[in-house]
Amino acid sequence: MKLEINVTSGKLKLALPTESDERASLVLVLFSGEGLKGIHAAAVEELTGGLVSRRIANDGFDPKFKQSKVIDTDLTIDGLDKIILVGLGRRSKLTMDGLRKALAAAFVEARDTAHAEHLIFPLIDVDLRGFSVEQFAQVVAEYAVLADYEPNHKKTRQWRDEMEQTHFKSLTVVSTRGTVGVAKRGVEFGKQLGVATRLARDLVNEQAKTMTARKLGRVAMKIAAESEGLVTAKVHTKREIQKLKMGGLLAVNQGSIEPPTFIELSYDPPSGATEEVIGLVGKGVTFDTGGLDIKDWQSMKDMKSDMGGAAAVLGAMSLIRFIKPRYSVRAVIAATDNQINGKPMQQGDIIKSMSGLSVEVGHTDCEGRLTLMDALHYIQTKMGATKVLDFATLTGAIEEAVGVYVTGVFGNDDRFTRKFLRAAEYAGEPMHEFPMDEEIYRDGNKGDMADLTNDGQGPGHIIAAWFLREFIKENVSWVHCDIAGTSWRTDATAFGIESNGGTGVAVRSIVHFLCENGY
Ligand code: BES
Ligand code: MN
Ligand code: ZN
Repeated sequence: MKLEINVTSGKLKLALPTESDERASLVLVLFSGEGLKGIHAAAVEELTGGLVSRRIANDGFDPKFKQSKVIDTDLTIDGLDKIILVGLGRRSKLTMDGLRKALAAAFVEARDTAHAEHLIFPLIDVDLRGFSVEQFAQVVAEYAVLADYEPNHKKTRQWRDEMEQTHFKSLTVVSTRGTVGVAKRGVEFGKQLGVATRLARDLVNEQAKTMTARKLGRVAMKIAAESEGLVTAKVHTKREIQKLKMGGLLAVNQGSIEPPTFIELSYDPPSGATEEVIGLVGKGVTFDTGGLDIKDWQSMKDMKSDMGGAAAVLGAMSLIRFIKPRYSVRAVIAATDNQINGKPMQQGDIIKSMSGLSVEVGHTDCEGRLTLMDALHYIQTKMGATKVLDFATLTGAIEEAVGVYVTGVFGNDDRFTRKFLRAAEYAGEPMHEFPMDEEIYRDGNKGDMADLTNDGQGPGHIIAAWFLREFIKENVSWVHCDIAGTSWRTDATAFGIESNGGTGVAVRSIVHFLCENGY
């Protein structure tokens, strides 16, 4: 990423590039019915010689919510290129979510319509409850970094209908003199959140032939190496996984010529380990063919994304160095692909999980829960996690239930679930909680020949969640996020600051949860 982000409270003019051949574009967010008003209005008028208010009046531009307009200065002002106006709608109607969507629209306009490389973004006054300048600056930086993202593709030519993506080179956030400090803090955090989300996107986008279980292990080692000594990593080999008796991970891996890995990461606060230990678990199926119950081509097409949960956990762990949570944090990934070579897992097989519970294979495509059951057991019994959150591209059913823009949430402790949901809301990642009534759903996973079956009957997303819950100990609070719908985008579903491919969903929710933003 080449994008450089600065904060200034000086004159707008000083934010313009000084290199003679470079020009900056000005991004202005406006309230409907107010015209050009607020803390930087005078400065904007001065810089542009009244151009903005003139054009708003002459063109009758009403900054309705997400309505945008790009003004070309026609090179009449030194160093200034385009002015991008984006509507926030009525001041009294604005919500945090609305502000985020308008900011997303602003950066998409800057990228795709104005083709801007240097951006100047004056912060304005928004009196939203519980909202701060720091958070505003954070979201501005975060969204600039994410809108700038482009998958690391191997394209060597451009098709007729394809435009080369513009990349931002600089973003100057303009605050007031009194808020420079908080704006700087927000900008730095937002940038980090964006970069960590981009890491998760990159991991998902890489082809499964190279993004193997061992590669995920190397990524974890790198995150530890770059953590300034705060995070340690260990990657267990197949032999060690056998010794640990992780029957589920080994069963799923049986049909693969790639060895599995079991990855663990640990963090303790500088002041020492805490009694409360947060555990993060990510589904790390590097490619899901479905196994012998093989998927049809449409369903299999994007299955390199079946490690989106692992990517989210790794992305979040890459920020530990920056956020230094108050609690000890542990993270694990049981990594393998789900293939059909050699002697693959088949229906009727009975697996002994690490926890001792036996599981009958009813469907080889329900492999995620088999890898997760051992990961969940391990993080509680070997790493002391007292609160566990897992992230998994677990079921197609979640997409049928809530579509591709909402993550499914399941839990066993209302207070803990609500905490996580607040962090997700703070992060701007839509999530929805599903019921987990024991009397209604638990028996769905009852096995014929073993304790459990992996293809229990009932609503798929809830039954799968209940399967995982069978491996959660008494007194351990647990949240499960089904990101099967939200972790991947096609050209048709990519929205706002998303690109096609991996979305990096959940990275920001996990990070805000760990640094206790939103509650
Ligand atoms: N990895 C899939 C779930 C999934 C579906 C992720 C779509 C992303 C997009 C999971 O392992 C799976 O295959 N689930 C199947 C099980 C079914 C065949 C019983 C499903 O939900 O379709
Ligand atoms: Mn599957
Ligand atoms: Zn899967």
